[in-house]
Amino acid sequence: MSLTLNTPLDMHLHLRDGEMLTHIAKSSGKTFSGAIIMPNLVPPVCTKEDVLAYQERINTAMGEEVFTPYMTLFFKPSYDKAFLSSVRDTITAVKLYPAGITTNSEGGVSGFDVEELRPTLEAMSELNIPLCVHGETNGFVMDRETEFASIYERLATAFPKLKIIMEHITTRSSVDLLGKFDNLYATITLHHLLITLDDVAGGMLQPHLFCKPIAKRPEDRDALLEVALNAHPKVMFGSDSAPHPKEAKEACGCAAGVFTAPIALQVLAELFEKHDALENLQDFICTNAQNIYGVRPPSKTITLEKIPFQVPSDYNGVVPIYANQEIAYSIV
Ligand code: DOR
Ligand code: ZN
Repeated sequence: MSLTLNTPLDMHLHLRDGEMLTHIAKSSGKTFSGAIIMPNLVPPVCTKEDVLAYQERINTAMGEEVFTPYMTLFFKPSYDKAFLSSVRDTITAVKLYPAGITTNSEGGVSGFDVEELRPTLEAMSELNIPLCVHGETNGFVMDRETEFASIYERLATAFPKLKIIMEHITTRSSVDLLGKFDNLYATITLHHLLITLDDVAGGMLQPHLFCKPIAKRPEDRDALLEVALNAHPKVMFGSDSAPHPKEAKEACGCAAGVFTAPIALQVLAELFEKHDALENLQDFICTNAQNIYGVRPPSKTITLEKIPFQVPSDYNGVVPIYANQEIAYSIV
């Protein structure tokens, strides 16, 4: 059996920089036609020059692959309308991190005073620049996303024309929030459709499944599955594939991030097939994102065959999800 997917998009991707970028870029470039590129480099992507230079390094690392990097800026409350206007044509979104909440987010926003953020968010709204948000507080780890809901509500109400993307949602309450505000959208990762906290820490600790936000309860995963499998028009695929060297994961003080890019499409196909929802996969991995962001990447056709694929133990020293295991689909 074979399956054809058109122009797959990954609306939340960490490509890193330097040697890591060189090694992992093509694991996305081979199967995806484009991705929203996260700006949490060290130092973060904060200027037009940063964006253009990083985009160039990505294009170089992609080589011959047909792949559009949709660039983002790391949100700073100091961005004013003049600056945002000047950078409008080089970015697709701005990514907001609460300070210190995850990998390389130390320079993010602290305090969440909507008035302090107003000038920047109003300018983004006027310029039609979407705001991507890592929605977690620094509360108890299982409650961080749910606690952030009130901030999403404040933002969505205060800036009704601003497109707000709740990144990598993991809870039923976030799914419910989507229905309450016209201007809220969400990305969903592959790993949060597959695992719960039990898979991470219920038995022997699994560092390669440790990420932020942490995987939650079975009922949360079920809520995510329901909207993803039905390709709810306000959700889209965003892998949050986040490579770290094996030594940084299998360490005392494990880095957060699950590396899924090389097998994401294949495993999504297996998952959608298992739930008898293959007819919705195209919308989840492409059409919804095109509608939400208005992006039009060059077309790219990916064919998957129902031939078992043995997932490697690592890709240049980065351990993927399902390492050394067999998955049902291969890329032709
Ligand atoms: O698990 C994560 N890893 N979550 C994030 O938000 C950031 C990412 C990373 O950059 O490693
Ligand atoms: Zn991320």
